[in-house]
Amino acid sequence: MGISRHPLSNPPPAWAKVPIDRAAIERLRSSFQLLAADGTRVTAIFYAKLFERYPGVRTLFPTDMKAQEGKLLDSLRAVVEHLEAPDAVRAKLKELGAKHVKYGAKPEHYPIVSEILVEAMAEAAGKGWTPTLTSEWSQALDIVSGVMLEGAEGK
Ligand code: HEM
Repeated sequence: MGISRHPLSNPPPAWAKVPIDRAAIERLRSSFQLLAADGTRVTAIFYAKLFERYPGVRTLFPTDMKAQEGKLLDSLRAVVEHLEAPDAVRAKLKELGAKHVKYGAKPEHYPIVSEILVEAMAEAAGKGWTPTLTSEWSQALDIVSGVMLEGAEGK
């Protein structure tokens, strides 16, 4: 089972009753730890792919991407660290989503970013990556995007 019924996808108080899929959480966490052991390699691969396929978004970002690569990695770390207590990151993700309106991010960019991010993870992880991880990370990033977009809409 995936994490589609993870609490982050539901508004409180319904989330309190939703069982957490421990095995999925463990897989998300350990796959992130492996990726993060290589520092910002995964996020560097992600931005390279994003800018190659969608050159139009390059100008939204700073010229030097080093800091940005670290910030994206840190936000993913915060998400995997709080999978059992999503409320702790929910408010931060909404704030982040609201900031993204000023950055020029559009709702239609989110699925693109999520898809390319999972591809970058698979490439950075190499042999250890599995279709289950692709599916669970896609679901996790959909949830993150959903919360960020709520923030973007001022909800
Ligand atoms: C999974 C979804 C996303 C996550 C977790 C994420 C994460 C972040 C983080 C942590 C920052 C740094 C914020 C700060 O400095 O306070 C950031 C900045 C930024 N993000 Fe995202 N982001 C996501 C989606 C997107 C999308 C869909 C776009 C659209 C192209 C985008 C474009 C940007 C831009 C342009 C910046 C600002 C760069 C700068 O000028 O410093 N992000 N993002």
